Amino acid sequence: MNYWTGQILWLKNSRRNFTPCEKQSLLNKNGCVKNKPNTSRMSESSVVRLPSSVGRVAIETNSLRKEFGAHVAVADLTLNVQRGEVFGFLGPNGAGKTTSVKMLLGLVTPTSGQARVLDAPIGNVPARAKIGFLPEHFRFQDWLSGREFLDLHARLYGISNVKRQTSIEKLLARVDLQDAANRKLKEYSKGMLQRVGLAAALLNEPDLVFLDEPTSGLDPLGRLLVRDVIQDLRAQGTCVFLNSHLLSEVEITCDRVAFVKNGCVIRETSIRETSNVVQVELVVKNSSPRLMRELSRFGKNVQQANGTIHLETESEARIPEINRWLVAQGIDVYKIGAAKLSLEKMFLDVMGKDARAG
Ligand SMILES: Nc1ncnc2c1ncn2[C@@H]1O[C@H](COP(=O)(O)OP(=O)(O)OP(=O)(O)O)[C@@H](O)[C@H]1O
Ligand SMILES: [Mg+2]
Repeated sequence: MNYWTGQILWLKNSRRNFTPCEKQSLLNKNGCVKNKPNTSRMSESSVVRLPSSVGRVAIETNSLRKEFGAHVAVADLTLNVQRGEVFGFLGPNGAGKTTSVKMLLGLVTPTSGQARVLDAPIGNVPARAKIGFLPEHFRFQDWLSGREFLDLHARLYGISNVKRQTSIEKLLARVDLQDAANRKLKEYSKGMLQRVGLAAALLNEPDLVFLDEPTSGLDPLGRLLVRDVIQDLRAQGTCVFLNSHLLSEVEITCDRVAFVKNGCVIRETSIRETSNVVQVELVVKNSSPRLMRELSRFGKNVQQANGTIHLETESEARIPEINRWLVAQGIDVYKIGAAKLSLEKMFLDVMGKDARAG
């Protein structure tokens, strides 16, 4: 399905039905992280909502699977994303990220499994009206100008004339395309196309936005712009589902991340949790085995490599404490600072350095 057909189908299609899978065992044969499925809530035919989670869950999936012929693109996706959170979906090329997003949007029919998006089954039209989407491989109507393109998409969303004009102008300014608004999309650079696509994804003031590699074609200024837009969305309470390989950006923008491989979530972590381990780097004039031993009162894994001492603490607040203690011991401190455990390191640890998913 090409992008255009997909968009039209996505906006116009009526509710899509697919066979609910059999009740899944809690033990997962694929070794994926698996939350307890809430079968009453997940049932497509169910109209009874559980009061505790209504309105809070943006996406919940239970053993979602997609096979393309003999090829398994997504093996077993069980995931919960809360409304209002910025959620990073990370994994190597071919891990099934885009396929998962397409299933959640109703663009690809799952082979089995269940999912609810904005408290409705996949493909539910009123729910779709509150979803925005920036595809990874976009093919926009390049005979239209940027302004016409946004107008077309606003019409497809059914946005009224007056509101359409205001929103389009506001979004053109937001993505820094006011000056290029009347130029045809075929004259746009890749970064400009990505920015106009981002604007299109926000036209309907969505409750949930899927951004599939939104910064892949952007220069540093464009990436900063996307980061700001995501921060604004978070401030407005919009849930953002972000596929990205730019881990340094994910680290800054996301509240929580899931690491996915072969369509299985193999680890989930909040970024706050990740940041709770602080690697302290320290260079002093005269280090000694005794100093190394004594430093262990401030943290664990005290090691020295290439003249730099490393230790792990639970908070950056330990750094001035360590500094004061060193000075009190008469030790000359040349350098002291924090190097947080990076998402990139975690990615490599979780995936394995030679990981290639598909
Ligand atoms: N329409 C299709 N027909 C057959 N195989 C497909 C199709 N779409 C995706 N796949 C396969 O499914 C797997 C998952 O692809 P997907 O595009 O979801 O990965 P991804 O995690 O988004 O990768 P990337 O990081 O490169 O964007 C890959 O092995 C891919 O070749
Ligand atoms: Mg992809």
